Amino acid sequence: MSAPDRVTAGNGLDMNSKDVRKSFLQYFEERSHRIVPSSSLIPIDDPTLLFTNAGMNQFKLVFTGGEKRPYKRAASSQKCIRAGGKHNDLENVGQTARHQTFFEMLGNFSFGDYFKAEAIEYAWEFLTKVVMLPEERLWASIYLDDDEAFGLFEKIVPELKGKILRFDEKENYWSMGDTGPCGPCAEIHFDRGEKYGTGPEDVVNGESERFVEIWNLVFMQFEKDEQGIVTPLPKPSIDTGLGLERIVCVLQECDTNYETDLFVPIIKAVESLCGRKCVAGPEGISFRVIADHIRALTFAFADGAVPSSGKRGSVLRKILNRAARHGRLLGMRESFLYKLPPVVRDIMGDTYPELKLREVHITELIRAEEERFEETYDNGLDYFDRLANKVTSSGGMTISGDEVFKLHDTYGFDSDLTLLSARERGLDVDMDGFERALRDQQQRSRQARGAVPFVIKVVNPLKTEFCGYDDHFMHETIVIDVKPLKDDLLAVILERTPFYAESGGQVGDKGILQAEGLEFKVVNTLKEGNTFVHVGQNVKGDISEYIGKSVTAAVDKERQKATQRNHTATHLLQTALREVLGEHVQQASSLVKPEGLRFDFSHFKAVTPEELREIERRVNEQILRDLPVRWQVMPIEKAKAAGAMALFDEKYGDNVRMVEVEGFSRELCGGTHVSRTGEIGLFLITQETAIAAGMRRMEAVTGDGAYRLASENRDNLEGVARMLKVASSEVGERVATLAKKVKELQKQLDQFSQAQGDEQIKSNLSDVKQKGDVSYLVADIADRKEAQQYLDNVKNDKRKVVVVLKQESNYFIVVSKAAADNGLSAKKVIAHLNDAFDGRGGGKDTFAQGGSKQDFSLNDLSRVLESAI
Ligand code: SER
Repeated sequence: MSAPDRVTAGNGLDMNSKDVRKSFLQYFEERSHRIVPSSSLIPIDDPTLLFTNAGMNQFKLVFTGGEKRPYKRAASSQKCIRAGGKHNDLENVGQTARHQTFFEMLGNFSFGDYFKAEAIEYAWEFLTKVVMLPEERLWASIYLDDDEAFGLFEKIVPELKGKILRFDEKENYWSMGDTGPCGPCAEIHFDRGEKYGTGPEDVVNGESERFVEIWNLVFMQFEKDEQGIVTPLPKPSIDTGLGLERIVCVLQECDTNYETDLFVPIIKAVESLCGRKCVAGPEGISFRVIADHIRALTFAFADGAVPSSGKRGSVLRKILNRAARHGRLLGMRESFLYKLPPVVRDIMGDTYPELKLREVHITELIRAEEERFEETYDNGLDYFDRLANKVTSSGGMTISGDEVFKLHDTYGFDSDLTLLSARERGLDVDMDGFERALRDQQQRSRQARGAVPFVIKVVNPLKTEFCGYDDHFMHETIVIDVKPLKDDLLAVILERTPFYAESGGQVGDKGILQAEGLEFKVVNTLKEGNTFVHVGQNVKGDISEYIGKSVTAAVDKERQKATQRNHTATHLLQTALREVLGEHVQQASSLVKPEGLRFDFSHFKAVTPEELREIERRVNEQILRDLPVRWQVMPIEKAKAAGAMALFDEKYGDNVRMVEVEGFSRELCGGTHVSRTGEIGLFLITQETAIAAGMRRMEAVTGDGAYRLASENRDNLEGVARMLKVASSEVGERVATLAKKVKELQKQLDQFSQAQGDEQIKSNLSDVKQKGDVSYLVADIADRKEAQQYLDNVKNDKRKVVVVLKQESNYFIVVSKAAADNGLSAKKVIAHLNDAFDGRGGGKDTFAQGGSKQDFSLNDLSRVLESAI
């Protein structure tokens, strides 16, 4: 496989992928389109989407009239992932020439400006005059009854006569998802020639590789809601999508996208890692899957997504597991995926600088997750093999949904891996049953967590004016609307409010709304779009009778002040973390409440005690300097140029609020803050833990919370000092002496009990039973240490000895080398026990340990052991 360096689609040009992207954007810029950067792969404020899946996503609200932009025409090259939800290409990757989980979509858009005629003209001109595709190889398809599009194609491109075909919704109607903007579309297809086939399937929209759909022109006219009701958009609009990989494949006349300059370096890198050659057809699938998946992972992680058990995280985990598993199929036994992001960066880093900026983050995240895969894979595969044997030997053909669930839940073995492994053995998998089991479990855990919080649906959205910055805790305002929620809770909407609504990690305010004859207790403030919703209960009077009237909104001031301290401290912490740990530290999320703060960030090892102390010291240093904290609203470009830190996946408008701690930190933030750092008082870190691969969590307290913590610690220390009868300052030394003494005594005790234990074990072992040439023993023990003593006694025994020990619900298996070498390893024995008692555990040849939630006796163990010998 070699990178094509000349274009041979009959057009006489020489274009690599960068040239194609550039000429597309330039073409539309020359036609008055605003060039808009790709949005993040993680959709902002759009719960209907798992990943950005089309160029139009970032313009969704512009199409529906919910957002205004200073331009009516735009063009972009958008990062997209289609691996979940309505548009999901995951299963096809590697099997076909042109399906990708990650791809770039070139697109031009009109927001109520031009419509069908210009969209067709531009597309045709770009294809035939700029990238010079031969007209005779282009075809068009339109929606069934779209006679207007038919007429326009005939008029604009007379050469297309007889090549404009009509298709139904499946092919020629585009919707973003189950809800959102939609409309009929026209597509332009390229005929790759007879060498790809001349059969009945080798037609436009056929199953073969001959015709490739290259450009989709959506005539956006409608919006679909949750009930499936379709309403017209404010103005007919245009959304087009031209897959970069596909057009490059056509232009470079490659058989598949994987032979274009966008992929060849990745395939070559995989070839050199595994020492094999990628070939066309099914043999090359693993190379293609890895090449596709590593692009998806690299870009998703660069945009701040992380593997997790959540919806998006688990899709990424699935993609990574698939890639890692295909690596195994290519003979790679060790982690290798993390070596590939630099190759992706070399190909696309100029267009997407985040690949360079976040390279360490991306590679470390992949490395950590790949290690997790390896652990999971071996245990899961082991269980899967036994399961598959059981199914086959009982004449079955299907792995049950409950078993797929068990593999997923207990072994962390993704359902996708089960599916792949089952297919290899010619078995089916009951995926519906699995989905059911999964739903049941989710239902159970939801019930365990308590009722789902109510959903507030504001019918007539309005923008609430927030006047809580600058310490306005009390404000006269007007009640606009009141809606009942569940129980006796009400949702109150005010004209202006000093109540901060939960957002950006900061909790919502509490307080009261009052007037003559009225007291309403606000228990939380939430945001629904731009409307602030005050949730609470009537204490006196009924607020529903105050609609249109004036009330005093008073925020719980002490609580809000404590929250401010924690919020500003979070900004100080972020800068200190980057100073001490490095620039790779990125905020993943944060929680700011009156009691303290929590900050999740990317970092690949535990923060050392020295680093923790230094971070804490630096934050307190800024507090003592009593720096002024200021905020101002400015254009986003200006804030970014000033070096303001922004969240990976936050949606920022054209104007942003920048919060600055003078000379120390600048962040885009909508939260409330102290006006000088001195108000924070004191900052103490309380905890640092791992929350996911490559993700750490730091918790801290400030102000009153920090003071209370410090004084509690002092009281505790004094209590200990009194018990030890020394001064507080001497506690450390005294405890060290005592610990040394305890250790010595423990050692003596151990020696004594070991000698006794060894005697006991020897006498037990003289008592063993016999099956064939295997000596075996089943016994109760007190703790794991005792199992280790057995191992010391048994391991080098020349006989074939197997000992199974029970300690409450745990079992330990100790076998002699002689037994292990003759096919009776501890691993094998524990597999039998796990099967019999539905337990978990594993180990090595001579020692294994596990346990089960089921009840089992020594006799049960003995029975299973005998059958295993
Ligand atoms: N939204 C359409 C698509 O994704 C055109 O951009 O195909």
